[in-house]
Parts: sequence; C-alpha cells; structure tokens
Amino acid sequence: MSDTTYPPSADFAANAHIDAAKYTEMYDASINDPAAFWGEHGKRIDWIKPFTKVKDVSFELGKVSINWYSDGTLNVAANCIDRHLATRANQTAIIWEPDSPDEEALHITYQELHDNTCRMANVLKDLGVTRGDRVVIYLPMIPEAAYAMLACARIGAIHSIVFAGFSPDALGARINGSDAKVVITADEAPRGGRKTALKSNTDAALLHCDDRVKNLVVKRTGGQTTWTERDYDCTALMAAASTECAPEEMGAEDPLFILYTSGSTGQPKGVVHTSGGYLVYASMTQELVFDYHEGDIYWCTADVGWVTGHSYIVYGPLANGATTVMFEGVPTYPDASRFWQVCEKHKVNQFYTAPTALRALMGQGNSFVEKCDLSDLKVLGTVGEPINPEAWNWYNEVVGKGNCPIVDTWWQTETGGHLMTPLPGATATKPGSCTTPFFGVQPVILDPTSGVEIHDTEAEGVLCIKDSWPGQMRTVYGDHERFEKTYFSDYKGYYFTGDGCRRDADGYYWITGRVDDVINVSGHRMGTAEVESALVAHAQVAEAAVVGYPHDIKGQGIYAYVTLMNGVEPTEELRKELEKWVRTEIGPIAKPDLIQWAPGLPKTRSGKIMRRILRKIAEDDFGALGDTSTLAEPAVVDDLIENRMNRG
Ligand code: WTA
Repeated sequence: MSDTTYPPSADFAANAHIDAAKYTEMYDASINDPAAFWGEHGKRIDWIKPFTKVKDVSFELGKVSINWYSDGTLNVAANCIDRHLATRANQTAIIWEPDSPDEEALHITYQELHDNTCRMANVLKDLGVTRGDRVVIYLPMIPEAAYAMLACARIGAIHSIVFAGFSPDALGARINGSDAKVVITADEAPRGGRKTALKSNTDAALLHCDDRVKNLVVKRTGGQTTWTERDYDCTALMAAASTECAPEEMGAEDPLFILYTSGSTGQPKGVVHTSGGYLVYASMTQELVFDYHEGDIYWCTADVGWVTGHSYIVYGPLANGATTVMFEGVPTYPDASRFWQVCEKHKVNQFYTAPTALRALMGQGNSFVEKCDLSDLKVLGTVGEPINPEAWNWYNEVVGKGNCPIVDTWWQTETGGHLMTPLPGATATKPGSCTTPFFGVQPVILDPTSGVEIHDTEAEGVLCIKDSWPGQMRTVYGDHERFEKTYFSDYKGYYFTGDGCRRDADGYYWITGRVDDVINVSGHRMGTAEVESALVAHAQVAEAAVVGYPHDIKGQGIYAYVTLMNGVEPTEELRKELEKWVRTEIGPIAKPDLIQWAPGLPKTRSGKIMRRILRKIAEDDFGALGDTSTLAEPAVVDDLIENRMNRG
C-alpha cells in the first residue's frame, strides 16, 4: 500500500463546492447535531408536505427501525423531472450512447424525459399497476430503463431491477420473491457486439411464475420475439399513451425500490430503499463527491441492474438536474479505447467506473487512452472493490494527466450512497484508500472477536457504522428479522458492513475486503452459498464449496471445490458442463473460474466445512494453513494441496 498523498490543487479547491475547511466544519456539524444538519439538507429536494420530524432511528436488536423525514410527502420522479422543467426543459437530461459507435447517440431533454416517463407510467397504470405494486425491470442499458424506474416512482409502484446478465432462473426467483405484477423487458440486449435474447429469457422465467404476471416488451433491436398471451408491446403502447400523468403523493418512508443482493448465507436478499432519505442522500453525494456543477456532463459506467446505476446514473444526477450519460456497451468494444472515445465525444467532465475495468484497460496499453482528447475531464471516480495502487496511479497519470482528483468511493447496496470517499476539493487522497467519511457517517473499527470498538487512530478490524444516515436500507423485503440478524446482531448497536478495514495514523480508512462469505468478482457481489447451491443442484455433484481467490483483472475469481457422486468420473467435459450449469442457474458472472475435483472436503468433526483452509489453498498460500488438528480427516487437505488449480 502506498502512503503518497495527493492534495487537491489550490485551483480545484477554490472552485469546489467543499474545500478542506468546509469539510471539517460540515462534518463536525453533522455529527454534533444530526437532526439539525439533515433537517437543513433535507430541503435540497422538493416536498409536497414538508417534514417536521428528521430522524427516528433505533439500531437495537429486536427493535431495529430506521426512519428519516417520516411525516414528509414527496414524489421522487417529480423531483427528478418536473421540478426542473421551468428552467431546463430543453437541457439534456440523458445522453444515451449505444453499444455500437455506428448507431447514433440520443440526447434526451428533461421535457422528453417527462413525456416518456409519463407515457410509460400510463402504460403501467393501464396494466393495472397501482401504488405499492411491484414491477420487475429486466432491461438493457437503454433509455426505457430510466423511464421505467421513474414511471414506477411516479405512480408509487416499487421497482425491482434484475441485471440483464442474470439467467431465467434467477429472474424467475426475483419475480416470485417480490410478487411482481408486471415484468418490463426488451426483445434483445446488444452488448459488445453480441445480443442476449432477453425476451426469451423472460419467457423461460415466467414459466415458473403466476399466469397473471404481465410482460411488457420494449423493442430494442426488432429481433425475434414470439408473442404470448401475457405479452404487451411497450413501444407501441407508449407511442399511443398520454404524455401527462400526475405524480402520486408518497410518504418519505414508502418504498422506492427493492434490489436483490448477495449475502453470506442463503439466497440473495431484497434490499429495500425508501423515498425521501434515499433521494436526499443520493443527490447530495452525487453533487459533492463528484463536485458536479451546472452544465457539467457526468458519466457513471455502471449498469442500472446494480445499486451504482440506481443512485449515480438515475436518481442522484437527475434529482440535481444534471446531464447523465447512459452507456449500453462495454469498455472493450469495438476496442479498448471505447470509454475514452465516449468521454471525448460527449465532453465528459466527471467519469466514474470500477477498478476491474481500469485493470483490464491498463493491460491493453496507453495508446488507447492517449489517442483521445480527455481535456474535459475534471474528476475521476472508482467504486465496487478496493483499487490497487498500480491501477490508481495509471488512472491518475494516464487518464487524468495528473490533473483530476480521484474519488475512491466505498459504499454498498445497503447504504444507498457513498459512505466513505474523498471530496475532490477537500481531501488529500492516497492510492488505495477511500479516505474519510461523508457527512453524518460515523465509521468505527471493532475487534472481530470481542466486538469492542478500537479507539486508537491506527486500528484494524471489522468495519461498522455507529449511527444511521438518510440513505440507509430500511429492511429486507418481506423479512425484517433477516435484516436485523444480518446487520445488527453480531455487533450490538452498530450497523455491520461485512467489510474488514484498517485505519492509518492519519485516520484514513483502507477497506481490506469482505470478512464474510461474500466475494467480489469484477465488482459484482456474489454469495459463495449461491454458487454452491447451484453446483449441488447438478445430478452428478455430491458436495461443493466455493471460495474467492485473488485474480489480476477481476479482483477476485471464483474457486469451486467439487465432490462428485460415487462412481462419477471427473472429466474435462463434466467441468465444462458444470460451468455451463452455473451460468444457466445464476448467470455468466457466477461461472467458476477454477473447478477442483475434491475427493473430500476438510471438515470439523461436527461436519462443518473449514473454509479458512479452502481459501488458503485457493490462494496458493497453503504454507500458512493454521490449526488443522480439529479436522475429521486431515489427509484430505494433502490431496487438495497436491491438486490445487491456482499455482502462482
Ligand atoms: C466492496 C457497490 C473497497 C465492499 C457500491 C462492499 C469496495 C461491497 C468499494 C459492496 C471501494 C465497494 N473500496 N471496496 N471503493 N466499493 N466495495 O453492494 O466489499 O455491490 O461491501 O455495492 O463492495 O458491493 P455492492
């Protein structure tokens, strides 16, 4: 880890929303009197009925309850659209850049965003969707994805986006899990020059769902679709629909969306975010963390299927009246200069991406960057996983030419927005550190065994947050008990993040990675339990254990130990079949990178799999296996070491 620091230039600080002195002043105020601080900043969005209460929170196990601005009413879509119309109806809200550079980009104004969102809202209403109903969105990165989100928000429906890379099985489970009335999908999703048949995937998913679930199909490519009784042509219906739809008056604590995310145990859980606090937090962080100014062009390369797309492509920027770029493609298509060409073409000022993309592009050489004019860039951001100093330095020097502050934003699906991050005009950065907390956020480091808070400045342990912030998730959909158990039971009185963390002598935070059985593959969260349950669902698999291991590009790769049924021969063919099997059960992002045939798994005498040992072997670090004396059959370990797949 590098301890070189990069202070913001005097020039940048002078023009920034927040400089170092202001950060300290505001941070102190936010901690000393959270109600006063957030009461003031709650006014950054438009309320129909203003709130009188600011914060009402308990982190006490058995009584966990999180409420912000609870007696206020608002409409999130009206905040992202209507309130801007008086001054910026003709300003571009969304620049849509298609997968192929040969197809024309779209510049969608706030007025057009209004009209299309209302059309989509009216189509949903005609299908019988009303306040509180769930709508699953399974769309590529096309403008309709933003219209669909905002249309749900406008009529008070709760959206649940399923990343278009997930398989029919995963989609079906999420449709059923949220008891959705409607699915919105598209015929096909072009990505990197290839097409995914989303409509066929949706058809396959819906085989396992109630017949009453309706399927609204957007035309993207015009490619093949077979139509069934439950299908509706979204494009045609929108064309015929009215461009007016009055926004519903919603309570601040009414759910805005559900987003499924992986945890350390069981199947993914539905993270619930509500309306008022979430929007205040997403919009404030978007403005301050990227130092967004009027007229800037802002681009977050995430997908709306992940939380980053929710908060930092759609809700945060649009609530601020920004111009936000939405990109359908991938960084390496047609070649490794695509990101930089899009930056040049649209004169992007703030650029926000994931370390895995940077590592992949860095490996292609600098010429792809250098041939593009990146002189409009002002701020560079990263998210999703720890960034290695090498990638950080490349981002800083080659992309930013040493002139653009880098904001390494640490946060989670659960947190709604950034919790620890530099502010570009205020914070001296250190490559690999997410630096210091955002306003109102109180990170603490606890001793993992005793659960006691470590007060020394220099500390290492598990990362918890001491008090609530407005963007915090409120519950797990349909399972408040699971919410309390996952986040509030291990360390009483704190929100437990699942991350390990180090605090250095300057009080800077360095995320060391997950301390639970969640792995982070190319910035995508994956529960090892999910991959294991997919593997054991295969008829020839008796048992499986999945762990992460360090991967040069992806950050972490998926390493699966598989024990086959008695008498089944391990073959290359079977290995391929299992890879394909997991792709079908979950999606391509869950495909194991390495599969090791394991005649047995190391278990304690009570039958518990010793993952610590499996992780070490997968890391090719078996010299430090630790205590293996409690193993039922120590000999299985020797076999696993001998046949390990990752030999550094
Ligand atoms: C990891 C993505 C280090 C972390 C917004 C967290 C990071 C998990 C960073 C959440 C970062 C995210 N530095 N690690 N800047 N950002 N993480 O829910 O382990 O998909 O717990 O949210 O990603 O992933 P999620």
